[in-house]
Amino acid sequence: MPVVPIITLPDEKTLRQVSSPVASIDAGVRKLWDDMLDTMYRAPGIGLAAIQIGVPRRMLVIDLAKDGEEKKPLFVANPEVIWASEAQNDYEEGCLSIPEFYEMVTRPAEIRLRYLDRQGEAQEMHATGLMATCLQHEIDHLNGVLFIDHISRLKRERVIKKFQKAQKLGKL
Ligand code: NI
Repeated sequence: MPVVPIITLPDEKTLRQVSSPVASIDAGVRKLWDDMLDTMYRAPGIGLAAIQIGVPRRMLVIDLAKDGEEKKPLFVANPEVIWASEAQNDYEEGCLSIPEFYEMVTRPAEIRLRYLDRQGEAQEMHATGLMATCLQHEIDHLNGVLFIDHISRLKRERVIKKFQKAQKLGKL
């Protein structure tokens, strides 16, 4: 399966797009999921949204299996958070579109999610811990939101500038 380039900062024009719902789960959608998964494994990362490879569709892949564990890919289309806990959780987040930058982000600790699975079936899942954080991070991507939008403006502007400078210097 092809591994495709991941779009990174400073390309906010792409990353800030709001993705459109998937109309139906067909072979093309499954192929895109497979390419996303291979790209994510290769990076390596634990989550990837379609917009991160330049495709503005509401699709994501997640696999939280650790090194050496059996792979456990989760394929999600058209996710909707239908409930979020009042309790919050802090995680140090990173993003394949913002390489080598990590910051603590506070989000609801548990969520309930409605989505379409790989067979096109409507599913609901209750997510906690890292899965809850990862899902919220990836769903943000579908709305053009990056995890740096959840940190201080000063830190956000600093990291965006760093990537703009690296691009100018031809280091990206
Ligand atoms: Ni990300």
